[in-house]
Amino acid sequence: MSNFFRANVDAMASYVPGEQPKRGSQVIKLNSNENPYPPSPTALAALQNIDGEWLRRYPEPFGDQFRHAASQVLGVPSDWIIVGNGSDEILNVLIRACTEPGRKVVYPTPTYVLYRTLTEMQAADVVEIPYGEDYKLPAAELIAVDGAVTFIASPNSPSGHVVPSADLEKLASQLSGVLVIDEAYVDFAEVDALDLVKRYENVIIIRTLSKGYSLAGLRLGFGIAQPKILQGLFKVKDSYNIDAIACTVATAAITDQAYKNACVAKIKASRTQLTREFQQLGFQVWESHTNFLLVQPPQGNAVYLYQKLKEQQILVRYFPHPGLLDKLRITIGTNEQNQILVNAIKALLSKTI
Ligand SMILES: Cc1ncc(COP(=O)(O)O)c(C=O)c1O
Repeated sequence: MSNFFRANVDAMASYVPGEQPKRGSQVIKLNSNENPYPPSPTALAALQNIDGEWLRRYPEPFGDQFRHAASQVLGVPSDWIIVGNGSDEILNVLIRACTEPGRKVVYPTPTYVLYRTLTEMQAADVVEIPYGEDYKLPAAELIAVDGAVTFIASPNSPSGHVVPSADLEKLASQLSGVLVIDEAYVDFAEVDALDLVKRYENVIIIRTLSKGYSLAGLRLGFGIAQPKILQGLFKVKDSYNIDAIACTVATAAITDQAYKNACVAKIKASRTQLTREFQQLGFQVWESHTNFLLVQPPQGNAVYLYQKLKEQQILVRYFPHPGLLDKLRITIGTNEQNQILVNAIKALLSKTI
């Protein structure tokens, strides 16, 4: 073992991202919850019009152009917004700013695995509390830990459920540390927690353009919180953390709400359809408020299906984690992709019976 690194870095496992096939490969990619539709034409036009002069210079340090546009869309002051290189960067900055060895980071599981990786990187204490039956939030246990940071993904991945507002408010009002509500999938849900940011200075909401806005490759996420939290995060972030291209394209994308809403409507309709098809095949399907489904195949053969689908160039996500060993997380694709998936699964199940 090397001694180049801190002991906690040597000891920790790497975060394993969803498989990203080579550009141009003919794969039906339903493993990273990307949006199957292209980005807004207005955003693509903004990309075409990037001026070389903007690239010669350093970008705006705080992404003010994007903050201004997001502020108009969300109805919050622009100085309540922090912009990052994907929402992952905001999560990273939060952990670095708020935690150290001996401070606790707490969250219900199963959830986004990166929370653990970031905490281990910082050598802070990971406290994982399992969700109850039907993904009931273990609110009392989370509050009892009173971590320096409490993460709640809502809607959650991989379950797809939304945490009830009353539970989030209970946490916000009783925790002394920072409550991070990760709303990466909020564009596909009916509710959001924006109101809590206005009423609680310990709450930060994290959002992304990777899902609803079809811009996972651009890398742009943002946080919304009162200035008390943001001033600490601004000290820790890189000076020029969002590049000029990402800032310009994302500004055009968030301004084009009509396009995003139309894509989301299509995905929600496909979600209803796909849920029905899986149920007819005997799968258990969890109600989803996201652009993916958590499903449990009828014959406990999740790994088999994952591998066989992969052989047919259909990528879905399998998590070798407790509580998920018999399940798959499947991104909603276009109707055509979903049909190919369902047909492939039908054929595979008929062979295993
Ligand atoms: C719950 C959750 N939070 C955050 C992210 C990261 O998103 P981004 O692409 O903005 O870094 C993801 C990505 O899949 C996610 O599932």
